Amino acid sequence: MVNYKDLGLVNTREMFKRAIAGGYAIPAFNFNTMEQMQAIVQAAVETKSPVIMQVSKGARNYANAQILRYMAEGAVAYAKELGCEHPEIVLHLDHGDSFELCKDCIDMGFSSVMYDGSALPYEENIKISRQVVEYAHKYDVTVECELGVLAGVEDEVASEVSHYTKPEEVIDFATRTGCDSLAISIGTSHGAYKFKPEQCTRDPKTGKLVPPPLAFDVLHEIEKKLPGFPIVLHGSSSVPQEEVDTINRYGGNLPDAIGIPEDQLREASKSAVCKINIDSDSRLAMTAAVRKHLAEHPDHFDPRQYLKPARDNMKKMYIHKIVNVLGSNNRLAQC
Ligand code: G3H
Ligand code: 13P
Ligand code: ZN
Repeated sequence: MVNYKDLGLVNTREMFKRAIAGGYAIPAFNFNTMEQMQAIVQAAVETKSPVIMQVSKGARNYANAQILRYMAEGAVAYAKELGCEHPEIVLHLDHGDSFELCKDCIDMGFSSVMYDGSALPYEENIKISRQVVEYAHKYDVTVECELGVLAGVEDEVASEVSHYTKPEEVIDFATRTGCDSLAISIGTSHGAYKFKPEQCTRDPKTGKLVPPPLAFDVLHEIEKKLPGFPIVLHGSSSVPQEEVDTINRYGGNLPDAIGIPEDQLREASKSAVCKINIDSDSRLAMTAAVRKHLAEHPDHFDPRQYLKPARDNMKKMYIHKIVNVLGSNNRLAQC
């Protein structure tokens, strides 16, 4: 059993309290590789931002769970080496799909876990969420749960029923599970294709697709039911057009990729939304830089030659999110 506090990590409790009071959101960036981890830490240190580094089940399968855990411990040491004496870094399990997976992460030093029972019947979701919370709280590990389904484009279009979180359920769910934060569904979804072109309108000036707005009415109703309770948005990449264009220019094929407009995420950050999940934008930033570099330098074959621009491009993106979208810069309790 490793306690996260011995690794220099923190849970989400205090940082969420401050984020709600201050009207900003904490970035939750997924990582699978050393370059992502380095870019996240460099960005967080330079902007003096708290940060959540999150690991999915897929990341554990790709990189190995122990390696990711040691990378998070290394992230704390790296932040200090870069000059941040009191970094606030959370190591979080993203989309844990069983009690056993959540327990395994808690036992190996994670400071926060998500149990995602959103696809289960309501009572079953509550039962397992509660079980995870009881275990996690013994070790002061914070727990995010999810209510409502983040429908993909196909589901949303095909379905007669709404996938949004039902505000009338949130008090019962939060009280009975004891969760520390709640991921909700208000129109975001995972990946780089969040809307179909026919769901969007076109900007008459640029001809670019404009996605439909998020369901802020649902968010505000939830906020009224649970005043001051931390809300989480998954699926919040904005799928920057310049990265998509670069990928397509250098041999990629991502037609009609589209994300959540950043002005809507900025607005959400000012509410009880205090954690915003971004993964796809990092993948796009990395791929765009690698494709461009290799196309311009066909003689290069040392991975450091193309992973360095990839890391730099991800860092630029992370800094942009922190400073211009979420507003978590200069929010460390101590520098
Ligand atoms: O929620 C999904 C995250 O982007 C993680 O994706 O399961 O492919 O690692 P992944
Ligand atoms: P994106 O695919 O929009 O980056 O969402 C990531 C996410 O929600 C991770 O849990
Ligand atoms: Zn997610």
